[in-house]
Amino acid sequence: MIKAKIKRFLINNFPNFFKILQIIKNDILFSKKKKKFSGWGLETSLLLPWDDEKIFHNETSKGYIKSKNKLNKKILNKEFFLGQIENYKENLSFEDVLKHFDELTYRHYVVYYSAITAYHNTRSRNIVECGVAHGMAIFFAINAFLKDDSYKVYLYDSWESMRGDELKTEKDLLKKGEYDYLDIDATKKNLNEYFSNIVFNKGYIPDSFKKSKNPDDISWLHIDLNSSYATKKALEFFYEKIEKNGIILFDDYAHDSYEDTRIVIEEFFKDKKINFLQLMTGQVIVTKKE
Ligand SMILES: C[S@@+](CC[C@H](N)C(=O)[O-])C[C@H]1O[C@@H](n2cnc3c(N)ncnc32)[C@H](O)[C@@H]1O
Repeated sequence: MIKAKIKRFLINNFPNFFKILQIIKNDILFSKKKKKFSGWGLETSLLLPWDDEKIFHNETSKGYIKSKNKLNKKILNKEFFLGQIENYKENLSFEDVLKHFDELTYRHYVVYYSAITAYHNTRSRNIVECGVAHGMAIFFAINAFLKDDSYKVYLYDSWESMRGDELKTEKDLLKKGEYDYLDIDATKKNLNEYFSNIVFNKGYIPDSFKKSKNPDDISWLHIDLNSSYATKKALEFFYEKIEKNGIILFDDYAHDSYEDTRIVIEEFFKDKKINFLQLMTGQVIVTKKE
């Protein structure tokens, strides 16, 4: 009786009281739930698409788990060098490197998903990556295309430190000198299993396009250049080659330090018929509709 009276009093005099109580309760419940994944701006306690091989029958999860296990094995056997992570900070232990790599799992799931989707929805078996580093992301895309051994991979990277010529904005210029540790031979070694299907186009985009070996049609394109000018030029060069229902995956869209790239992407697609999906990892999947 008294309890009901207090409740009525609170409702009448403090109408938001129970709402606030509910929010606090939910917050406590969420923080008590076991976090299953955290990385790249994404945090979840829900079932993960790579959680358990036995429960998934969908092709994306099955294929992704298989490629993830394959890459993990290579990393542990020191057959795949995670140069980008190893050079991210000084004095990282191998355990730290593995932990950083794990934080990229959802990002790599998106790479695999976008590639397998493009594989099914296009005829071309050509895939392209602009900004390759040591081949971590392209590994997953290649694995989505392996079923058809006519697949071809076109890789574009300077494999040298980023230089001022292609960094045209104040923010982008802050990246000058990055990636000075890159080594094309390490990338070749990492991807040696797929070597005969890969074309390595070394040089700075866009100049490199003049002398590179380029595909005529493209199923899947990944742009991960950390540079807005190079991103714009890559889009201008490759867009017409992308098949209807082909996919462009952008790595640098929602992260704070890539605001200039985001502007370039928004500007480029203003008048194009596409589907556009922004993800919580900061990536964007664009599907070409005509
Ligand atoms: C973030 S890394 C790529 C990471 C890779 N996609 C992965 O997931 O493992 C960015 C890459 O872009 C390359 N890059 C940046 N600007 C470039 C340009 N103008 N031409 C060619 N490569 C460039 C860098 O050398 C670097 O390897």
